[in-house]
Amino acid sequence: MADSVFAHVVRAPEDPILGVTVAYNKDSSPVKVNLGVGAYRTEEGKPLVLNVVRRAEQMLVNDTSRVKEYLSITGLADFNKLSAKLIFGADSPAIKENRVTTVQCLSGTGSLRVGAEFLARHYHEHTIYIPQPTWGNHPKIFTLAGLSVKYYRYYDPATRGLDFQGLLDDLTAAPSGAIVLLHACAHNPTGVDPTIDQWEKIRKLMRSKGLLPFFDSAYQGFASGNLDADAQSVRMFVADGGECLAAQSYAKNMGLYGERVGALSIVCKDSNVASKVESQLKMVIRPMYSNPPIHGASIVATILKDRQMYDEWTVELKAMADRIISMRQQLYDAMQARGTPGDWSHIIKQIGMFTFTGLNVEQVSFMTREYHIYMTSDGRISMAGLSSRTVPHLADAMHAAVTRTA
Ligand SMILES: Cc1ncc(COP(=O)(O)O)c(C=O)c1O
Repeated sequence: MADSVFAHVVRAPEDPILGVTVAYNKDSSPVKVNLGVGAYRTEEGKPLVLNVVRRAEQMLVNDTSRVKEYLSITGLADFNKLSAKLIFGADSPAIKENRVTTVQCLSGTGSLRVGAEFLARHYHEHTIYIPQPTWGNHPKIFTLAGLSVKYYRYYDPATRGLDFQGLLDDLTAAPSGAIVLLHACAHNPTGVDPTIDQWEKIRKLMRSKGLLPFFDSAYQGFASGNLDADAQSVRMFVADGGECLAAQSYAKNMGLYGERVGALSIVCKDSNVASKVESQLKMVIRPMYSNPPIHGASIVATILKDRQMYDEWTVELKAMADRIISMRQQLYDAMQARGTPGDWSHIIKQIGMFTFTGLNVEQVSFMTREYHIYMTSDGRISMAGLSSRTVPHLADAMHAAVTRTA
């Protein structure tokens, strides 16, 4: 038999985040814990489907008038309108003035990709500044879409907080018109967000230099438990009348990970521009995947348009956020109780799904080897994967890693 025509293909490395789960699945230890992947787990360590999502799905199934026709290229119209209201606020002037175009995309990742391709085709500046560090998929998404990726300083390892001056200096040095990727809240992987005051300074600087904001909103409501509070950064930039892009994901805040439901909005100066922009977004989407799937967007629209279901969602969302916040406290208390050297207050100061522990590559591999705890090599742990039962084991592992490795 002749060799395969693909024999020369070189094996690609595992995705650094999803690869953690691959390694975890291979471990037969009963005490193993997976803190790698960014998905919510209950106190019992199980994935969660929200009650309100189950109820919406039941309603959709029972409605025999529903059919499975293709959606339009831009997706479900109700879903798009409701998603824009959710992120920009119900009384947003930009929405009232019809200068926002929103298209349904394949979760947060797909929304970022469609936005990036649109910018590569129609925006004059092809450089996008992304925070250092950032979600590992960002540089790949933007590079493949045809943008040129540069970094701005974001995290200061010394304080385990924001390198605000570094951020301002790097954005000041960016060429006018450059695109800037901003995490709307719950920065991944650091859990470090600017304060409102700092956001205001970033906004002023960016507007004065004509830098174009591209918000990635993967955690609205999941960070603080409050949907409005978590959208404040975005709303500040929209309130000044300027233009911006926003990618929304319903993976975390509605637990719709595998349904791949999200939206890309582009806020424009006027409605005429917005409608031309939308016509070109269709040109990006049609040859890419033609049109988005119907089920997840129908679930979201069902929940967002019904007052009672919306309220029920906010209660369930807050419960997820609160459980994560309580895990932070429990882990911090456990570190204090063990007298682990160092300042661990960043565990309770950081926000959202992840804690950027400050543990180094060696300490991480020590914890995996000796304690069967799995996390990304940058020391990021998913607080959503922790429970009261696993906190003591993690604290033991962290204590040992800090005191027994160099
Ligand atoms: C910062 C950030 N952006 C975007 C996403 C995209 O997620 P999805 O495509 O599942 O909505 C994630 C998921 O982990 C994320 O952390």
